[in-house]
Amino acid sequence: MTAKGKTTADQQIGAIPADFQANAHIDADSYEKMYAQSVQDPEAFWGEHGKRIDWIKPFTKVKDTSFEPGNISIKWFEDGTLNVAANCIDRHLAKRGNQTAIIFEPDDIHEPAQYITYRQLHNQVSKLANVLEDLGIRKGDRVVIYLPMIPEAAYAMLACARIGAIHSIVFAGFSPEALAARVNGCDAKLVITSDYAPRGGRKTPLKSNTDAALLHCIHDPKVLMVRRTREQTTWVDGRDYDYGELMLEADDHMTPVEMDAEDPLFILYTSGSTGHPKGVVHTTGGYLVFAAMTHQYTFDYHDGDVFWCTADVGWVTGHSYIVYGPLANGATTVMFEGVPTFPDPGRFWEVCEKHKVNQFYTAPTAIRALMGQGDEWIEKHDLSSLKLLGSVGEPINPEAWHWYNEKIGKGKCPIVDTWWQTETGGHLITPLPGAIPTKPGSATKPFFGVQPVVLDPHSGQEIDATECEGVLCLKDSWPGQMRGVWDDHGRFEKTYFSDYKGYYFSGDGCRRDADGYYWITGRVDDVINVSGHRMGTAEVESALVAHVKVAEAAVVGYPHKVKGQGIYCYVTLMNDVEPSDELYKELRQWVRHEIGPIATPDLIQWAPGLPKTRSGKIMRRILRKIAENDYGSLGDTSTLADPSVVEELIENRMNKG
Ligand code: WT7
Repeated sequence: MTAKGKTTADQQIGAIPADFQANAHIDADSYEKMYAQSVQDPEAFWGEHGKRIDWIKPFTKVKDTSFEPGNISIKWFEDGTLNVAANCIDRHLAKRGNQTAIIFEPDDIHEPAQYITYRQLHNQVSKLANVLEDLGIRKGDRVVIYLPMIPEAAYAMLACARIGAIHSIVFAGFSPEALAARVNGCDAKLVITSDYAPRGGRKTPLKSNTDAALLHCIHDPKVLMVRRTREQTTWVDGRDYDYGELMLEADDHMTPVEMDAEDPLFILYTSGSTGHPKGVVHTTGGYLVFAAMTHQYTFDYHDGDVFWCTADVGWVTGHSYIVYGPLANGATTVMFEGVPTFPDPGRFWEVCEKHKVNQFYTAPTAIRALMGQGDEWIEKHDLSSLKLLGSVGEPINPEAWHWYNEKIGKGKCPIVDTWWQTETGGHLITPLPGAIPTKPGSATKPFFGVQPVVLDPHSGQEIDATECEGVLCLKDSWPGQMRGVWDDHGRFEKTYFSDYKGYYFSGDGCRRDADGYYWITGRVDDVINVSGHRMGTAEVESALVAHVKVAEAAVVGYPHKVKGQGIYCYVTLMNDVEPSDELYKELRQWVRHEIGPIATPDLIQWAPGLPKTRSGKIMRRILRKIAENDYGSLGDTSTLADPSVVEELIENRMNKG
């Protein structure tokens, strides 16, 4: 099952429902006109759209960007000044003080939902900004946020933005080791965490994870702890501070700090094909313009709508489409602490009904998990408030697309399949729902200002023909583009601008069809996509070889029914170690512990040897094929040092059935 969309059925066009089109912000005509202007005259286009947010000092320069090797530099609105929190909160107070900004839906169905108005948000964020200042946090300092999906996570982001501190959120599913690497990576002065993180009826001990992580930290960050479950935790006097206590006494006035457009707003660590995760840096002005504009146009958000993005704030999707984009637009945004299947597989639809959700944005992996659970979970709920559905994180396979369309959207909601990345800040290729008819499995057309090109992977040349396949690059900058890798400009240039000179290289492959629609075919590097989460195979390999019994490991992705891709590990054990079921379990547990549950291997194959070239390089291409059970096209194996290794691996794979 792939989303490459090669069959004719997949080419069917999802027409735009007539009443949707009539009310949409952007129709087909305006899309064509605006897109043409956005690429022909980006200065004029973004000069105009940059005004959608409030500037303290208006910009006079719009775009100063270069993808030239040796001179990579990206600046947008560079002489303007602004504050992100003021844009997401203060400027809405006059008109929307009593409107709900955030609807918080807790994990436990018996706990009441919270409705936080813009005025309350202002109060909480201002207080927390004072708490941060009292803890010694100043403009430019880094703050790590390691929290469940609770309103305090949004307060923390916005409080940092209010005083100009740079936040770096670490997903609450990450291990102490992963947390420590990120705290050290950006040299954080403070970690904001909670006692526990309730999720799906279970609890992750975030505070004790933080304690464990800080044992490995070079500097001594302070810890600010939110009491979520109010259970007992350890406490280090002089290092740990109680969020609730400090908030009680905090002043609720804090003037937003004036920031330059190019001052960093946040760092978010993401996996790459080599080495440790890298700290993707986003800045203030361009990011906010792009997050807000994509939120409004891609989801066709209108005043008063209730918007729900089911992602976690630990990922970029949560940054741009739970917090910054929606709040910059004065929207009502839902924050959900739980999981789709708890307490039962009807939870998503129950929440849609309860809060009258208008736009619903989730990942194909969640859709696939729910598809198998039976229609009764949907039929129990009134989904008539839904106007639009969104998909993100991986290609959506046509089967899931049709289910989503028919069962959830009842055939009346456009589906926006949004292609983007942590690095891009917001949507790059996506249908605008009132303008672009969809095709199941295609992210369709570029957003304004975005110029996708398909390159021949061998020659690096742009392919002119409309219908083609190759690697997906971007020809010019857009305001939401990442500005660098934290503390490592060299890595920024090497990762994104060196394989194909003059372009931003996405790491994805794609196909462009005769209508100019883009179909993402998946990563072309050593990154895999597990349940819409990005995982570097190198990270899993280093975790495996850190185990005393493991001599060598190679990790690849393979097709997985629910997760999209699963984690397939070839493991060569130390000489004196015999494979066993116990060791199999132990290694899975080990990786889970080293990185976090999302990195747990799905399959481990004991490999007496790995296919290598004569120079010792592991041939992953072959390992990928074996993992996929696709032996017919192993390609050229003549450069292998020992071809018999491959036969042995195939035999073992087949024995597994
Ligand atoms: C990678 C980026 C961007 C938010 C979530 C993931 C894959 C993302 C799609 C889509 C096909 C997609 C790509 C991309 N991806 N959206 N609609 N169709 N593939 O962010 O962790 O930075 O991962 O996710 O492979 O490169 P991320």
